[in-house]
Amino acid sequence: MAASEKEKAISTSESLLEEHRELRELMETICATSDLSVMLPLLDELKDELKEHFATEEAPGGFGTVVSESAPHKASVVDHLFAEHKEFLISVQRLHEAVENCLAGPVAEVRTAAALLKRRLRKHEAQENELLSDSLYTDLGGG
Ligand SMILES: [Fe+2]
Ligand SMILES: [Fe+2]
Repeated sequence: MAASEKEKAISTSESLLEEHRELRELMETICATSDLSVMLPLLDELKDELKEHFATEEAPGGFGTVVSESAPHKASVVDHLFAEHKEFLISVQRLHEAVENCLAGPVAEVRTAAALLKRRLRKHEAQENELLSDSLYTDLGGG
């Protein structure tokens, strides 16, 4: 590999390593998010980032080129990794659907139950408030 090609390969490698760091951080954020409605847009972001990242790796001059030029015996490993790209995009899509279903199903049910509890408790306590003020008024009136 000529010196200029080597320099280009190093630069490609550095930018891919940086993208890997960013993707790792995004995945950490997604996994640390307990609010599914917050997770949904993060999964959209992940899908977009991954599409772009995988396209960069697969493009001429990208990861595949760098590895095949410096380590041609690793071609089958590269093929395997590139095949995984499609699987990852499908997995992200499935996770996105699972989160949507959860929000529309179990999460919506829990929110409805919480709202019902709030209304019942408010009514119950309003009745008690009324009784308290009636009693107080009666007491004062009677005293
Ligand atoms: Fe990658
Ligand atoms: Fe990759």
